[in-house]
Amino acid sequence: MTDLGPLVPRNRAAHPPAYDPDYKTSVTRSPNLPLLSMESTPSEEHGPRFGHGLIGALDNNLILNWTKGAAPAVGERILVHGRVLDEFARPVPHTLVEIWQANAGGRYRHVKDSYFAPLDANFGGCGRTLTDEAGYYEFLTIRPGAYPWPNRANDWRPMHIHFSIFGHSFGQRLISQMYFEGDPLIARCPIAATIRDRSQLDRLVAPLDMAKSRPMDFLAYKFDIVLRGRRQTMFENKPEGM
Ligand SMILES: [Fe+2]
Repeated sequence: MTDLGPLVPRNRAAHPPAYDPDYKTSVTRSPNLPLLSMESTPSEEHGPRFGHGLIGALDNNLILNWTKGAAPAVGERILVHGRVLDEFARPVPHTLVEIWQANAGGRYRHVKDSYFAPLDANFGGCGRTLTDEAGYYEFLTIRPGAYPWPNRANDWRPMHIHFSIFGHSFGQRLISQMYFEGDPLIARCPIAATIRDRSQLDRLVAPLDMAKSRPMDFLAYKFDIVLRGRRQTMFENKPEGM
């Protein structure tokens, strides 16, 4: 495993602001006092650890995991895959990647989701996997539908998949969203618009990847994820690191 110097401080200027009036609920959720900087603790730097025993055989297959393989979910079948890397382009192996998403009609299996689109009896909407030695992960799922949300008069979320990536430690954890190449709703979404820099937003848009698609079965989308990195321990006789 690559490691294990201290975590590189997060560059907050590279993240969208917590307060954005066009994203209505951010107004009440964002801090209104200056942030305090605190030293990280050992558990933030080195925990948690997840073993392979945690992951079931269908956990990264959202088409089948809700029914334990009995019946497939409704929707357009897709493979979402990529690598988890740190900011020095080193793979992050054996790290937990979790996703959650709406079904093909744009409805979440959640008590507070009352959108008209029906639930799919064969779709739960959650999956998880561990990256391999090279930081690679993949999920088989269905393309989530766009859905409306109460913000301004007529706002719709583009098709998206929510991601949580733990990295090597709590302090490296990233929660983000993946969008789909070519979706016209991305440019109209107030949440996506909190990212001011178009090139940064583009990094959340997964391109269609025909090379990984399987004929007569599924399309593929490639989504690489970059976490903040660790500064390697420097040796006196090897200033470049280990
Ligand atoms: Fe969502």
